[in-house]
Amino acid sequence: MIVDVSTGAPTVVYWGRSLGPDLDLASIDAALDRPIVHGTFDVVAPITVVPEHGSGFVGRPGLTGRRGGGRAWAPRFSTTSHVVVGNRLVVDAADTVAGLALQTTISLTETLRVAVEVTNTADRRYSLDGLTVTLPIAQQAAELLTFEGRWSRESHPIRRDWQQGELLVENRRGRTSHEAPPLVFAGEPGFDEWDGEVYGVHVAWSGNHTLFAERLPDGRRYVQGGELLHPGEVVLEPGESYRTPDVLGVHSSEGLTPTTWQFHESVRALDGHPERPRPVLLNTWEAVYFDHETEKLKALADAAAELGIERFVLDDGWFGSRRDDTKGLGDWWVSENVYPDGLTPLISHVTGLGMEFGIWVEPEMVNPDSDVFRAHPDWALISSGYEPVLGRQQLVLDLGNPAAFAFIEEHLDALLRDHDIAYVKWDMNRDHIQGSGSDGAAGTHAQTVALYRLLDELRAKHPTVEFESCASGGARIDHEILRRTERVWTSDCNDALERQTIQRGASMLIPPEVMGAHIGPTRSHTTGRTHSLSFRAATALFGHLGVEWNVTDLGDKDRAALRAVIAMHKEHRALLHTGDTVRFATDPAFNAHGVYARDRSEGIISFAQLTTAPSQTPPPLRMPGLDLDARYRVEHLQIPYERWGSARTQPAWLAEGITLSGRQLAFHGIQPPTLHPESAVLFTLTRLDS
Ligand code: DGJ
Repeated sequence: MIVDVSTGAPTVVYWGRSLGPDLDLASIDAALDRPIVHGTFDVVAPITVVPEHGSGFVGRPGLTGRRGGGRAWAPRFSTTSHVVVGNRLVVDAADTVAGLALQTTISLTETLRVAVEVTNTADRRYSLDGLTVTLPIAQQAAELLTFEGRWSRESHPIRRDWQQGELLVENRRGRTSHEAPPLVFAGEPGFDEWDGEVYGVHVAWSGNHTLFAERLPDGRRYVQGGELLHPGEVVLEPGESYRTPDVLGVHSSEGLTPTTWQFHESVRALDGHPERPRPVLLNTWEAVYFDHETEKLKALADAAAELGIERFVLDDGWFGSRRDDTKGLGDWWVSENVYPDGLTPLISHVTGLGMEFGIWVEPEMVNPDSDVFRAHPDWALISSGYEPVLGRQQLVLDLGNPAAFAFIEEHLDALLRDHDIAYVKWDMNRDHIQGSGSDGAAGTHAQTVALYRLLDELRAKHPTVEFESCASGGARIDHEILRRTERVWTSDCNDALERQTIQRGASMLIPPEVMGAHIGPTRSHTTGRTHSLSFRAATALFGHLGVEWNVTDLGDKDRAALRAVIAMHKEHRALLHTGDTVRFATDPAFNAHGVYARDRSEGIISFAQLTTAPSQTPPPLRMPGLDLDARYRVEHLQIPYERWGSARTQPAWLAEGITLSGRQLAFHGIQPPTLHPESAVLFTLTRLDS
């Protein structure tokens, strides 16, 4: 990476493939000197980390805001100092006319990581409208990949041409969102999993965000990302500062799969990223919903333990008056009606079976029909003078209100202190749109910061407890929440067919060990589709495995198969949860992906058929990225009661195994069997000693 520190906010002159040693900025400047063309300014304004309208940058400025009367709206910064410590560069800049200071921090570790802080150095307040981080993108990157989604259908990729113009991804939902995840890739036209130069940018933030990709009329490209601020949301009094979220950049010249490894490594490098094996869990939601009854739950726990489950997570419905989703949120005390002897008898039963106990909470919310709301109606975020907009019959609790914050912290602290709880599933089930605080000003920023503080304080008090980020499924998946959570709930959709696409998309940002993936009931509760256990298992096996199914009802065959699947996951999870996630290009009717060990000594691959395909036989699957000169044994990894299709014959290697070089696997590939739609085949790769 080459950074010019002389431009006020620094300019990332180059990032991408290594340029080798002994480089000087002057030679790059000279090589990339841009002509001044007719009809433009007499200078080419650089695309700094915070590009300046006042300096002639004609794209979207990195800093917008003003003082009373509209002054200081187009600042221009000059560098005051810079320092490099290890792999971190800090550049200070000031605009003495506007009365603003800017500090940019750039570090290069697993990813490029950039944040900017603006400080009001004048003696009058400054209203900040937006501060974003801008990264240049190579001009060859003329195709974009972003993601769309909705509840139960997250992380769907969208490819589009980026020859000209701009793309704006904005999120005003107060959580990372199903609809507009803060992630964009830009690559050479036609880039795929193992081919082409690709750049990725992620805004690590769990509130509102903006992502903007523009090709300027002069041909240069950039991606800009940061927090989306509502009017008046951030006002800086003299001496006050605002810091952007971290914006992460990744790059590879070898396609999307290697690019996304850098995001995975970045999550793996976070303090607190779990090192012990990820416990296979059972979540009670689709098993019993609100039908809590200690004896039934004990029976569920018995059945779970017998299957080899390691963590039992009690979902929504254990507290206050919460017998359905219309009431009780906020009353974080154990329901005396449902649990007359408290939770301890159930917890002791679960831990006595050798499992950990986990519990569901939704701390940022209240139902109007709750004791806490009746006692403190002023604790909910309601724009005064307006009828509140409810979501799932609930309101957002104002975490910016010190009394509300203290109440929640105290009750969650007591819950964790008084019970043997190893795991918290932290849910958040509605968008946040109301004003905050007594003045009704926009407050999503304050709410997001307060959420982080609440989680940080609880984690400090209970350092052995693990947390999961859930928001109606996958509406809060980002690298900043992952500093505070060991898992994310990827989607409320446990339909394996949908999950093939959802998990493939999510794997472009997060590694498998944090990606919650459950084996649900035979008939999916969210889609009504029916799938074989082998397809459900083959799909969930690649994440942090869970079961969300009333396993007390299982027949002998399903019980034996599920037990075998869980054992199989445990046998392979060290590889599944530490290796490099690989995705392969195939016809759209199929999904091929897997994991390679970091040292390429082994791998597990899934080849799934999603729909019928025009060809009767799938194309040979090419698997680049192995040790080209090594020999690999390829063997079918049988899932119990596997049902994946019929043909007069299937490829002989499935029954017999086959030895091929990494080069053969990459270049001519291997013929998958003929599958039925909605089924999958798994196989292992084992490097043989030469
Ligand atoms: C939404 C979550 O995504 C579900 O898994 C479940 O926890 C429900 N909330 C409970 O209300």
